[in-house]
Amino acid sequence: MKEPIKGFSKLSKAAKLEWLTQNNFENPEETLELFQGYWHNDENVQRKHDDFIENTMTNYYMPFGVAPNFQINGRLYTLPMAIEESSVVAAAAKSASYWMARGGFKTEVLSTEKIGHVHFMYEGDASALFRDFTSLELELREATKELTANMEARGGGITSIELVDKTDDLDHYYQLEVCFETCDSMGANFINSNLEEMAKRLESFAASHSELEENKLEVVMRILSNYTPKCIVRASVSCPVTDLASEGTSGEDFARKFKRAIDIANAEPYRATTHNKGIMNGIDALIIATGNDFRAVEAACHTYASKSGQYRSLTHCKVEDGIFTYWIEIPLALGVVGGLTKLHPLVVKALEMLGKPNAEELMGIVAVSGLAQNFAALRALVTTGIQKGHMKMHLMNILNQLEATAEEKVHIAEYFKDKVPHHREVVNYFCNLRGVPVPKVGS
Ligand code: MEV
Repeated sequence: MKEPIKGFSKLSKAAKLEWLTQNNFENPEETLELFQGYWHNDENVQRKHDDFIENTMTNYYMPFGVAPNFQINGRLYTLPMAIEESSVVAAAAKSASYWMARGGFKTEVLSTEKIGHVHFMYEGDASALFRDFTSLELELREATKELTANMEARGGGITSIELVDKTDDLDHYYQLEVCFETCDSMGANFINSNLEEMAKRLESFAASHSELEENKLEVVMRILSNYTPKCIVRASVSCPVTDLASEGTSGEDFARKFKRAIDIANAEPYRATTHNKGIMNGIDALIIATGNDFRAVEAACHTYASKSGQYRSLTHCKVEDGIFTYWIEIPLALGVVGGLTKLHPLVVKALEMLGKPNAEELMGIVAVSGLAQNFAALRALVTTGIQKGHMKMHLMNILNQLEATAEEKVHIAEYFKDKVPHHREVVNYFCNLRGVPVPKVGS
């Protein structure tokens, strides 16, 4: 039985590795060597990575690919994409070329505010709080003056403070709902620091208010919301339906089938989940490459997809007067300063590759990446199916698993050039080529 370990985080990295490998692996020496093999050879770079989180043992490599030829608002971009799924970058690049030939992508930032809350309970008559909210608000703004000064100098700050009665949802539950403009930063620390100051002031306001009962107000939490329905971006493409024609399929037919696919994702949560997952393939890859918080973005997008009360598609499409228009509208709270943006050397390069965008430009680029990915998926799904492209990209993973040589890879890739490389068929072909017995199914 494994023994628990006390004070692990206080041990040196070497001692942690020693404990980890000796207690959790069949071959500690081989494991240690493998972990160390993934360390960066520049100690300073490695130290940065070590300090991102607690108990860093090694680095987890993820491919950093690029998808060129994205024409966005008339400007050409190469998108940095950090992702492990084999077909995502290829799909992005394909969509980029497709839409470059049809006018490119357009983006529009619709709003940029973020929201945070002081969640509190008041077990009494809260009407005095509402009546005197104007003076409470003044006090809250006063309490956060120092914290907001820098952000205000950059054009941001607190944009509104509201007292919200939530007692219909939960007995005694109220909120201070605060909106923020955080300019080029994602703003989580700024928002949370402000909310913590406000919570203190709310408590002291209540304690000193003659009409509010003593000890009846309790602050439960002060935290930003990752749901950002006031921080919305739209990306779109549009072209005459006739321009969508490809071998064997008329533009009208393609547009009709494509729209049906979106209608299905709107009508049916099982499909909507996969549909939106494909969108997040494109979004997360850019979010990770640019050092942003993909969990926050995922959470916000999925809540937004459910805003009607049912989980639906994040992309939309219409055909009017012979024009096909296709767009995505999503909440994206992103930063290009703070967080990892200056710390992770590849994040610095990813942002440079994008022309050092401000937060609003990055919102547009990320939305385009989601739209492009969804377009590639739906285009394949309503025509040839996705397995052809997907398995073609996955072929190298299968061959690497089989430890195929470079020469074998070239030969096998050539053979599967015009076939869907299903796993079993690749294994069979590989074994025949090598002259080794084909393993039994399941072994
Ligand atoms: C695979 O990662 C993503 C897709 O399943 C998305 C979709 O079905 O729309 C291809």
